[in-house]
Amino acid sequence: MTKPKAAVFASGTGSNFEAMMTCENLACEIVLLVCDKPGASVIEKAECFGVQTFVLNPKDFDSKGDYEANVLQSVLDAGVEWIFLAGYMRLVGPTILHTYEEKILNIHPSLLPAFPGKDAINQAYLAGVHQTGVTVHYIDEGMDTGPIIAQEQVEILPGDTIEALKDRIQKVEHMLYPEVINSVVMEWLKA
Ligand code: GAR
Repeated sequence: MTKPKAAVFASGTGSNFEAMMTCENLACEIVLLVCDKPGASVIEKAECFGVQTFVLNPKDFDSKGDYEANVLQSVLDAGVEWIFLAGYMRLVGPTILHTYEEKILNIHPSLLPAFPGKDAINQAYLAGVHQTGVTVHYIDEGMDTGPIIAQEQVEILPGDTIEALKDRIQKVEHMLYPEVINSVVMEWLKA
């Protein structure tokens, strides 16, 4: 059976993108990387995996709507059915959101609704909480909001450094995101 096609939207390093690409049994075929940061490391990773890239700088567009229309055209042209945000540091606007309703997932390095937005690992560390974690959720128009699908806790240990904590959180992300993708896509295929 052919797998449904998916796009990853990312702005940074791309470790979650890599985790999807190296997952042995991902239920989707990742056919496109959309990146809003020319020069981001994730672009090189996609090229290494032979994944088509669509890199664009939002500043080159007259409006957010114009930028989104271009992104939407690229995902539609690639036959994409699912979109996975993996460190895409930008709100998805109504044009894409409505076309891909309940088909866009996001991963975030905290136990949402705690610590949304940028630098969530730092935010939790500086807040002095004893637990943080990882959330995978469907997106809506808000910042790291939308129905939660799965969460996994990560303890903040006495004497932890921010680097050690980040490392443990990312290990959880790299397991959890492909697992959640597989479970939601399999459910959708069965329906
Ligand atoms: C990940 O930790 C992801 O959860 C986070 O960005 C990082 C991207 O890392 N996303 C957010 O903070 C979304 N608000 P990566 O580029 O190595 O996958």
